[in-house]
Formats: sequence, C-alpha cells, structure tokens
Amino acid sequence: MFTLTQDWLRRYYGSKDNQKKDAENWLLRHGKNVPKDKIDAWSYYKHLIEYQPNTPDIVPQCMDAIGTEFRSELEAHSWVNSLRCPTPARAYKEVLELVHPNSILELGVGGDSAISTGIYLAFLEEQKAPRMLSIDYHKLDTVWERYKDVPFWSFEQKDSVQALIDLERMYRDFDLIFIDTIHSYTHTLEELEKSAKMTFFICLDDCDFQGNDFDPEPGGVKKALEVWLEENKDWQRVDLDYGNNVALIEKKVGIQSNGKEGKTYY
Ligand SMILES: C[S@@+](CC[C@H](N)C(=O)[O-])C[C@H]1O[C@@H](n2cnc3c(N)ncnc32)[C@H](O)[C@@H]1O
Repeated sequence: MFTLTQDWLRRYYGSKDNQKKDAENWLLRHGKNVPKDKIDAWSYYKHLIEYQPNTPDIVPQCMDAIGTEFRSELEAHSWVNSLRCPTPARAYKEVLELVHPNSILELGVGGDSAISTGIYLAFLEEQKAPRMLSIDYHKLDTVWERYKDVPFWSFEQKDSVQALIDLERMYRDFDLIFIDTIHSYTHTLEELEKSAKMTFFICLDDCDFQGNDFDPEPGGVKKALEVWLEENKDWQRVDLDYGNNVALIEKKVGIQSNGKEGKTYY
C-alpha cells in the first residue's frame, strides 16, 4: 500500500523554487476559469497546473487525495497522470486491457509529461515478469526522478529508429510497441516498419495528426498509418471504444503481407 502525501506530490509534480513565478504567469495566461484566490496555492504544482485546461480541478483533486491509500506508488502516479490527460489515458488503458502485455517498448516519453509511461508502468507491475524500455532523444527531467527506481523499467536516450535497429540486432521482442515521437510521415513509416519485426501489437498516439510544418513530406502519423496498412495486409486496425486519436494495430495470424493466406508448415 502507498499513501499519497503532500511531500510526494510536491517532489514529483511540484514547481522548483525558480519555477513558481512562471507557473503563476502560466495560470493567468492559459488556465481555464482559475479562481484568482487560488493562483498562489496552485502555482506550487507546475506539473499539475499545466494540465488544468484538461481537468480544471486537478489541483484540488490531488490535494483532496492526500492521505489516500493506493495499491502502490505506481498506481498513484497512474491516477495523477489520468487526471493530467484523461482522454489518451483512457485509450492507453483500453489498449492494455486488450493486449495484456508483459513487455512494452515506449518510443517517446516526453521530458516532463510521460502520461503513457505512468499508465503503462502501473499496469505492468501487476503482470508476471514485466519489463519496459522507454526511448526518447531528449534527457528526462522530473520523469526520471519519478520512475528511476522501478526495477523493471529502463530508459535509453536515443533516436527511436536507431533504438529499433539496435533492438532488432539483439533479437529483442515486445508484447506491445507504443509510438509517440516526432509524428512526421517518414519517421512514423520507419518506426512502423521496424516495430513490426518485433511485435504483434503497435499502438500509435496522435494517429489523426497530419504533420508538422517542418516535415520533409506532409501527411504525419495519419498518412503513415494508412499507407503502411495498405502495404501490409497482414496487419489490421483494432476498433477501440476510447480510441480518440489513439490507434491500435495487430498482426493477423496466418496472412501474408500481400493479403494472401499464409502456408502452414508442420
Ligand atoms: C508527444 S511527446 C511524448 C509524450 C508521452 N508519450 C506522454 O504520454 O506524455 C514526444 C516525445 O518524443 C520525443 N521524440 C521526438 N522525436 C524523437 C525521435 N526521433 N526519437 C526519439 N524520441 C523522439 C520528444 O523528445 C518528446 O519527448
């Protein structure tokens, strides 16, 4: 059992001394119907208030949870992160329930966000022999502090495609690969192609995203997914109830990439 405390909230979701003023300004500029008399108290929680437009009462909810017992510390992180980004969190949980992975490769952690990381780790700790590897080409900040002691989690700072190449060379496989990086068309296509060699389930965040202005080719994740599924008939999209902007694809058993039935060898 883990009891949520104010110290814990401040340590992992709080503002550092030099961040409090910026947090106040952030609330004034971007907050959603923030009561004026709450600005000072809320600005102690930089990593909660930045998500206040998603969950307007995120700080009061977390304060009310002080003293509440959670199954574990990871479960408490999962709960907080579900408040920070409720919509994707619901989709990630649905994917976990469908795939039931013991091992996850997460591509794209987010310097201080890591909503997916929090949700996945809490699920995995309940599974047998869990393991999770997270990749991001940026250094982790508060996220590293949150999860560095989780025994079945590791992090590597590198490009996601390079990570996939290295993992394939080591014959590594995963029950689920989660893609949430640069979201450009060409990069996502490469991630899909390489991921498909070491898993039967791939989850893509921002699957309706149509590209960044600076991308070498337009289309983003949306086009990459469409093109890749068209060329790989042995993969199909799974219907999700909460799939709003999150896609899950799975490899079809007994089908070749050209869509023909595969031969079975005994
Ligand atoms: C949208 S954020 C990830 C959000 C995170 N999954 C969450 O749930 O909060 C995208 C992350 O991908 C990382 N990233 C972007 N391009 C990358 C690449 N080519 N290789 C590795 N990481 C990349 C960025 O540094 C950023 O932290």
